[in-house]
Amino acid sequence: MNKAWWKEAVVYQVYWRSFYDSNGDGIGDLKGVIEKLDYIKKLGVDVIWLNPFYESPDRDNGYDISNYEAVMTQAGTMETFDILLEEIHRRDMKVILDLVVNHTSDQHEWFLESKSSKTNAKRDWYIWKDAKNGGKPNNWRSYFEPSPWTWDEATEQYYFHSFAVEQPDLNWENEEVRKEIYRMMRTWLDKGIDGFRMDVINLLAKPEGFPDAEDPDHISYLADNPGIHDYLQEMNREVLKDYDTMTVGEIPFVTPETGLLYVDENRHELNTLFHFQVADEMPVMDLPKYKAIQQAWYDGLHDRGWNSQFLNNHDHTRQVTRYGNDQEYRAESAKLLATMLHTLPGMPYVYQGEEIGMTGVRFDSIKDYEDIAMKNKYKEEVEKGRDPQEVFESLLLLSRDNSRTPMQWDDGEQAGFTTGTPWIKVNPNKKEINVKQALKDPNSIFYYYQQLIALRKEQPVMVYGDYEDLSRKYETLYVYTRSYEKKTWLILLNHSDKDQRYKFEERCIGRPVHCVIGNYDRGEAGRMHLEPSILLKPYEARIYEWSE
Ligand code: NOJ
Repeated sequence: MNKAWWKEAVVYQVYWRSFYDSNGDGIGDLKGVIEKLDYIKKLGVDVIWLNPFYESPDRDNGYDISNYEAVMTQAGTMETFDILLEEIHRRDMKVILDLVVNHTSDQHEWFLESKSSKTNAKRDWYIWKDAKNGGKPNNWRSYFEPSPWTWDEATEQYYFHSFAVEQPDLNWENEEVRKEIYRMMRTWLDKGIDGFRMDVINLLAKPEGFPDAEDPDHISYLADNPGIHDYLQEMNREVLKDYDTMTVGEIPFVTPETGLLYVDENRHELNTLFHFQVADEMPVMDLPKYKAIQQAWYDGLHDRGWNSQFLNNHDHTRQVTRYGNDQEYRAESAKLLATMLHTLPGMPYVYQGEEIGMTGVRFDSIKDYEDIAMKNKYKEEVEKGRDPQEVFESLLLLSRDNSRTPMQWDDGEQAGFTTGTPWIKVNPNKKEINVKQALKDPNSIFYYYQQLIALRKEQPVMVYGDYEDLSRKYETLYVYTRSYEKKTWLILLNHSDKDQRYKFEERCIGRPVHCVIGNYDRGEAGRMHLEPSILLKPYEARIYEWSE
């Protein structure tokens, strides 16, 4: 497999509005990110992914862009962005920006023009359809609404939106749209950014004729439609091939077979991808399923394309809450999940606050929530006549606000995030969980991440090693090896709150090993020989290394 800088990188995701507020307006900002760059650097990461900060009415926290080449007032100014870029590079880190080109805001001047009349030159920049039999053009639903079609009274047509009413989809069949997007991408790359995280990039192509779906609730018909690979290859030819970038596509509904088409190195589309077979389809840890997913992606991409490893981000509840134990074993399970994500094949992503074990949140009322997906769903279900409290409860675990609460810097009133009133409430557990505390404790989750990230720099086995699962018959133990050249790492993970014994395979017993890292102190000094079995403590994670 070819080597590349981005394959060896760890990415830190900054959801800037919840990261650090430098001016007391209650919303994080780009200057706040600058002020905390030394903290990010201390962790040792290589790349920062910044969520969208472009001009936007902010209906979907910046994913509804009204001007791709301006900075949203809440985030700051273009001058501040330029300083941020320079400061990131000065610290030997890189930065990738969100590229949100499936849709714009309904306040984007392109859409305002498009909407102004049927004969406007930009009418075809969006997807407009006549009513069908007096109603919507088809029976689909959208991510955030019961239907992806919204009627425009003035011009008597429907427009299409995969997400909220305020997020009309661009028409990628229109060549002028594509050219304009490519020009915009070049503008950012020429400024010096290092790549893009591409929002729902496999939604760009729509099914020909927009036929009714058999199962309208299963919205996979929005994704992976014919034409998508032509667009991405064109984007590569027209833009990306001229820059040394990193690209990661957000690709819902893909399988390893269809995923390979996006990241196969010979196809010149994307470097890597986020698939959602875990985050969207596995609400709590189901280890046999997780192992099967890892195996399938390893087999599917091996030697041909690069995977990404993540369990949470700004759309998915914090991993220690969803897949670990955020109570008694919070620190242990946070470290265990980190050990796993940093040693499975692919690039690890750290979502801000994950490195101190921040947890999901439970506010008292729907009024405390800001997430448009949750609020729209709540409204839709309550309007159907369901009990509001029951609907509220059912939406709690997966609300996107679980991971959007402000970064917990200290135990002060607003967790050191702002001197004003935060746009979303702070998690009450800021007293116990915060950066100040983590930096004081040599055993903290933070320093464990720091060690894992430093190891990646010294240990190609972590990046390029072959993967083998040695734990298929165990329900809640995950044990695998990574092997590269003459070195093997054996990774042991106990995903349960009980002691569990693991029996080593014959070929491992007696091997002279040393422990690379672990989340319990076993007092093992230096080299030792593997016994026939090991008793792992609750949420214990351990890596042993041997050489041939
Ligand atoms: C995926 C983004 O991560 C999410 O936050 C956003 O709401 C949708 N795409 C729409 O852009």
